[in-house]
Order: sequence, then structure tokens, then C-alpha cells
Amino acid sequence: MTKVPTARLDKLLANLGYASRREIQLLAKNGRIRLDGEALVRADERIRLTPDLETRLVVDGEPLDPLPGFALMVHKPLGVTCSHKEAGPLVYELLPARWRRRDPAISTVGRLDKETSGLLLMTDDGALLHRIISPNRHVPKLYRAHLARPLTGGEGDLFAAGTLMLEGEDKPLKPAELTVVGPQEALLQVHEGRYHQVRRMFAAAGNHVEALHREAIGALALPADLAPGEIRRLTQDDLAAIFAAG
Ligand code: URA
Repeated sequence: MTKVPTARLDKLLANLGYASRREIQLLAKNGRIRLDGEALVRADERIRLTPDLETRLVVDGEPLDPLPGFALMVHKPLGVTCSHKEAGPLVYELLPARWRRRDPAISTVGRLDKETSGLLLMTDDGALLHRIISPNRHVPKLYRAHLARPLTGGEGDLFAAGTLMLEGEDKPLKPAELTVVGPQEALLQVHEGRYHQVRRMFAAAGNHVEALHREAIGALALPADLAPGEIRRLTQDDLAAIFAAG
């Protein structure tokens, strides 16, 4: 049987961003932390980190935040950036304030450009992050592009060839699949995540991407009812879907 990990209550809650360990001692003393309805008054008590802890442990009447090792999806709106180096609102600002104080921190799984919308994953689980972005896994990403000029008909073969070289690079792109949706609209599925990849692919084909939206990662599609700016925790089925099409 695998051993269930444990953590001290004060360390657990401090790492989940609730408060400092000192403040958590006070919260506990004042009966504001409850496990199965009973006040946990000692902050140094060791707690078993079973998944059901998220419903059994209650802080100020609210169920516990997700335990470490979780992932979420974001419908990234236009104009929001994934990088601290860029100006503008950060995608991290879409998270509850407490989640931004977690250790391990939540980070984005790859990035979307500031002017790209759609499905973005985030996690505090480094191993999961690397599994998704690893070039060896070939997790496909599906983008919808609106183009400045009509498609010419040759783009599908160009992208599928596995020989297309982007400017300034020395390795050709892996084959990618184009589906024409309209004269100036296409779906493009790629299997790697190079810088500005989709925009640069259409530029190499003599076109210009005017609007870009990521619709899916693996077989995990952006849900129609997840509005721009909204977040949703990933289920086990969602995680399986990411790798199902790899
Ligand atoms: N390709 C791009 O050009 N931009 C993105 O944000 C993602 C893929």
C-alpha cells in the first residue's frame, strides 16, 4: 500500500497561501480551522494529505483550496500576457489572490501570445507541466487562425511536409495539419511549441495572422461555456484527454 503523505497544518496552509505560519497558529487557536467538523487547535498537528481533505478541512467555513499537484484551464482573453517580462495584465491575475501566493507556485504550461486567446493550462505540478510540453510526447495543439489574405491552396502541403524552416531557425518544423474553414480562416494543428509558431508559419506562406485562438490541447477542447477570463480545475478525464491524442 502506498504511504499517504502528511504535512504540518501550519506549513500546509502557509504553502497554500492562506497566511503566515504564525497567523495560522492564531487561526487554529481561535477554532477557525476544522477537520470533519472538529476544531484543529494545534497548528503543528500532522495532517494526512488524502484527496478528500479538500472537503473535510474547512478554513473560516470554506472548504480547503486544491492540494498541491493540481491543474487548471484558463480561457485566456486577448490582451493578457503569460510573461512577467511583458507589459499588460498577467494571466496570473485571473487566479484567486490566495492561489498566487502558493508554494509550489502555479505556472503556465507553455505560453500564448498576448494577442492570442483560448485554452491555456496552468499547474503547480512540474512533472505534469513537462509531460505536456515535452517534444517527445507530441501533444497536439489546435489553433483557429483568421488571415489577412485568402488562402492560396498550397499551405496544407507546405505545413504537412516536415521541411518548412522558420526564419532564424536551423531545424525544420514537424508536419502540421491544416484544415481550411473559409477563404481566410483555417484550423492548424501543430505538435511543437516554437516561439510565435503559428503566426510565423502563415508568414512563411506569405500570409498574416490577424486573429489566433487555441481551441484544444490533445483531445482536451476549450469548453464552450468557459467564458474569456474564466478558470476551471482539470478533472482526471481532462488530464487523460490531453495525452489521448499524442
Ligand atoms: N503560435 C503563435 O504564433 N502564437 C501563440 O500564441 C501560439 C502559437
